[in-house]
Amino acid sequence: MTSGGDAAGMNPAIKAAVDHARHLSMRPYVVYDGLEGLIDGKIEEPSRNLTNELIYRGGTLLRSSRSKRFFQYEYRKQAYEHLKAKGIEKLIIMGGDGSFRALNDFYNDFEVPFAGIPATIDNDIASTDYCLGVDTAQNVILNCIDSIRDTAQSHHRAFVVETMGRDCGYLAMTTALCSSADICIVPEIPYDLDSIYRRLSPQIEEGIGYIIAVVAEGTRVAQYLTRWLNEKTGMDTRLTVLGHVQRGGSPTARDRLMATRFATRAVEALHKGNNNQIMVYRDGSYATTSLNAVAGQKYSVNPEIIDLCRELSC
Ligand code: F6P
Repeated sequence: MTSGGDAAGMNPAIKAAVDHARHLSMRPYVVYDGLEGLIDGKIEEPSRNLTNELIYRGGTLLRSSRSKRFFQYEYRKQAYEHLKAKGIEKLIIMGGDGSFRALNDFYNDFEVPFAGIPATIDNDIASTDYCLGVDTAQNVILNCIDSIRDTAQSHHRAFVVETMGRDCGYLAMTTALCSSADICIVPEIPYDLDSIYRRLSPQIEEGIGYIIAVVAEGTRVAQYLTRWLNEKTGMDTRLTVLGHVQRGGSPTARDRLMATRFATRAVEALHKGNNNQIMVYRDGSYATTSLNAVAGQKYSVNPEIIDLCRELSC
């Protein structure tokens, strides 16, 4: 099942999990609508039509939800009854740490083991360097910034581009670096507008063509920065809030491969009886870790990336 915000890579992971489970002579089912669907018994055996469609499609064909009901025992009990009726003994969930925690509560109630696959464009899950959907979102953002650069250059304008990421600046930092942005403002780095102005003013005096600023949504300063840039530089300035376009798109090769690796490992963990493990990718290797290493822990962006972006924040 898929849970929380959708992320590219969820579909290829569903396909890999279904195929690998069958390879190991297990009988896979899919749950539609995430935890809400589990409560309502939207559980089916996957058809060939579904699995054939999965590999290149963005989002999640199983659909997703952010369930409040699942945090109440009576609804978890209802979900358990649906599983029992179908003889389902183990679960794989893709999503963020809130989804993993929900299944841990479920395990404490009914002892249904689970495996977790990190999937969120925010890349903000502790203990893993990678979550499904990040590479695709980065590429969507880069395509947008490249297009914005064309029009910024044509009109001699400054552009502020706001990326998603909730309270994490990973998407903004990595795409600012990859798009050669002039400014990057993220929650992880204190910014200094005076110093940014001092850095850019020689270029502005030389008649710099345009300015690109990438701002993480978690800072909530995109509008303020847009006004500031206009007043300070005198350049016509526009704000582009990229929004949900960042969550869509066909999964990149990296997301398809990561999805396949995470999903087959999740099936294997459950097959071997390693319960309640979260799949992670750390320092270039795949591993599994306990829920405690993930839930309630703060994710920190790689300090080298932060240091590189510091130069764009002051
Ligand atoms: O967690 C993924 C994410 O896209 C965040 O980056 C963003 O803040 C949030 O979800 C948006 O949530 P919704 O799709 O519910 O508006």
